[in-house]
Amino acid sequence: MITGWRVLGLGLGWMLSASCLADGAAIAKAGVGAVPACQTCHGPAGEGIAQAGFPRLASLGAPYLQRQLAAFADGTRVSDVMMPIAKALSVADRAEVSAYYAALPAPAAPNAPAAPNAPRAPTAVLPTASALALAPAPVSASVGSTLATRGRWADKLPACEQCHGPGGRGVGPDFPPLAGQSATYLSNQLTAWQTGTRPPGPMGLMAVMAKKLSEAEVRAVADLYTTLPARAER
Ligand code: HEC
Ligand code: HEC
Repeated sequence: MITGWRVLGLGLGWMLSASCLADGAAIAKAGVGAVPACQTCHGPAGEGIAQAGFPRLASLGAPYLQRQLAAFADGTRVSDVMMPIAKALSVADRAEVSAYYAALPAPAAPNAPAAPNAPRAPTAVLPTASALALAPAPVSASVGSTLATRGRWADKLPACEQCHGPGGRGVGPDFPPLAGQSATYLSNQLTAWQTGTRPPGPMGLMAVMAKKLSEAEVRAVADLYTTLPARAER
């Protein structure tokens, strides 16, 4: 996938040579060696499985995807499921499969709102999280959209859409979309930055911001983005 070769700029591409290219599509659909097919969990079109918290990969930037796989492989991004998978992939495999998913179109349909008792982060053993979800939360909805579109400048927290784009559709190869990800996955990631189980990413931006969000705000913003369409209306 030629579109993925812009990863050259990030310094991984040089490790690839034409002779060692695995086929990204084949890895996604059938796996490689002991590595299971990615689509088992990430869906046949890379749309993810919302209920399980398996993220969408379709149309995320190739450099972003490669960075995540590298972080799983070196254990700085903690996930019992993804660490062994990423470790078992070669650097070339990771580049190929990232290019494959980057080239897939964004999923068409937005996710349904999170089920009130959907599983959340394993770290979120706090009973308050599910208790909150049981009550319809109009306050929460406006908290989510205020954070998304305006941020909280008093606390030096920019609006999410300044980096993730209008409606959270993602910007360029490095700012991933939030729309079309499940609320479970989104809140797991924000919690991971708060607890240090996900590396801070470019310029440490997300770790700093996630730490400024309360548990209720994490939930509000995750619940907002999961309902927004992943694909721009045209
Ligand atoms: C058994 C289920 C499973 C399989 C198979 C699987 N994944 Fe995952 N993947 C997950 C889960 C769960 C997460 C979320 C981890 C977390 O919460 O940080 C994830 C996260 C990711 C992410 C991070 C996405 C983001 O937005 O940051 C990437 C990239 C990824 N997987 C790539 C792959 C690739 C490539 C394959 C195939 C080689 C694969 N996965 C196979 C379950 C799976
Ligand atoms: C100043 C820029 C910036 C702002 C503002 C910002 N983000 Fe991010 N965000 C990033 C970057 C960069 C990444 C990719 C991190 C990486 O590569 O690991 C990211 C990644 C994420 C991810 C992980 C997506 C995935 O697929 O795993 C989530 C969730 C997220 N941001 C939520 C938010 C929310 C919610 C807000 C608003 C409260 C926000 N971000 C505001 C820059 C920003």
